[in-house]
Amino acid sequence: MSREPLLFERFPRLGALPHRPLVDRPTPVEEMPRLSAMTGAEIYVKRDDLSSKAYGGNKTRKLEWLLGEAGAAGADILLTAGAYGSNHVLATSIHGMAEGFGVHALLTPQPITRHVEENLRADLAAGATLERIPSAALFPAALALYEKKLRRDGFRPYRIPHGGSSPVGVLGYVEAGLELGLQIECGEIPEPDRIFVAFGSGGTAAGLALGLGALGIVTPIEAVRVTPRVVANTKTISTLIRKTARLLRAADPAFPDLGRAAATRVHVNDGEFGDGYGTRSEAAERARELAYADGIRTEGTYTARALAALIKRAESRMERRLLFISTLNSRDLSHLLVKVPVAPAIFTEPPRSLFQRLRG
Ligand SMILES: Cc1ncc(COP(=O)(O)O)c(C=O)c1O
Repeated sequence: MSREPLLFERFPRLGALPHRPLVDRPTPVEEMPRLSAMTGAEIYVKRDDLSSKAYGGNKTRKLEWLLGEAGAAGADILLTAGAYGSNHVLATSIHGMAEGFGVHALLTPQPITRHVEENLRADLAAGATLERIPSAALFPAALALYEKKLRRDGFRPYRIPHGGSSPVGVLGYVEAGLELGLQIECGEIPEPDRIFVAFGSGGTAAGLALGLGALGIVTPIEAVRVTPRVVANTKTISTLIRKTARLLRAADPAFPDLGRAAATRVHVNDGEFGDGYGTRSEAAERARELAYADGIRTEGTYTARALAALIKRAESRMERRLLFISTLNSRDLSHLLVKVPVAPAIFTEPPRSLFQRLRG
């Protein structure tokens, strides 16, 4: 399997961008035969759940570029944030520690499910330092304060935004879009009528639109929103696309000027948000069971919701060929979970004041 990004092959001047190879590329594309038979559509999946043997999923792709930049900046600690069960925080913990960084994460409460509880335990087993903060609204202030404290203590932190969706992180999905585009061009799967992906912080959908667009592939991308509209909306995606395109074209002007075209391909789907982030959704539960029958692991916060939207589309018979991007890690984490058999009580007790502790 090639470890060299297609971005470097296709646009050699991008080779100047710092990068750490973490992804086993290309990730496979395959049909979901049972779901196809059930819906009468042709349903395909891109197996980004297998993006790395240590920990797969979409966050690993973003971290190749984020850790590259952190290393180039001389950082020794990665500082990031997310909800308790954040897959981004877990990916950062596993890959960041393996690449020689310390990892500190600020976490906000969310309904505790088995997946959330296991992610917390795996974060700790991987060696991350976790801090609880009461609300995501405090992220910017808390991160600034925490960064200051780390610098005061002599560390060189590198801040990664929640979800890993800075323009540098989005490069991981520009790469994935190119990879998928080439798989379509080679006939590994037919060109889909529509692509479905979960929309949390937006980097995955934004990068895919740019990477596919660079090959002239204009398939619509359905970004299935799972986080609140204030942070996840059309503007979130168009801003990420614009900033990432600017970064790419500054590094290599040969990267096509896709302008607004890439942003118009992404459609934000609000239909699966239901009662809110991380809450139970019947459509997602059904999607989870159906995916399982095809050997694909999903969970109710992100990927089962994206798949639920795809299933509705398939059942409406409006389009025939649909592609699901499987962005949840599917690698076994039991070697980590045995090290931390229960999640610590601080995540179930009332919040302690971060600010008090930092001042101390
Ligand atoms: C499993 C999974 N899928 C999809 C997403 C959404 O990706 P993005 O934040 O790039 O929109 C996330 C984000 O945390 C995730 O954990």
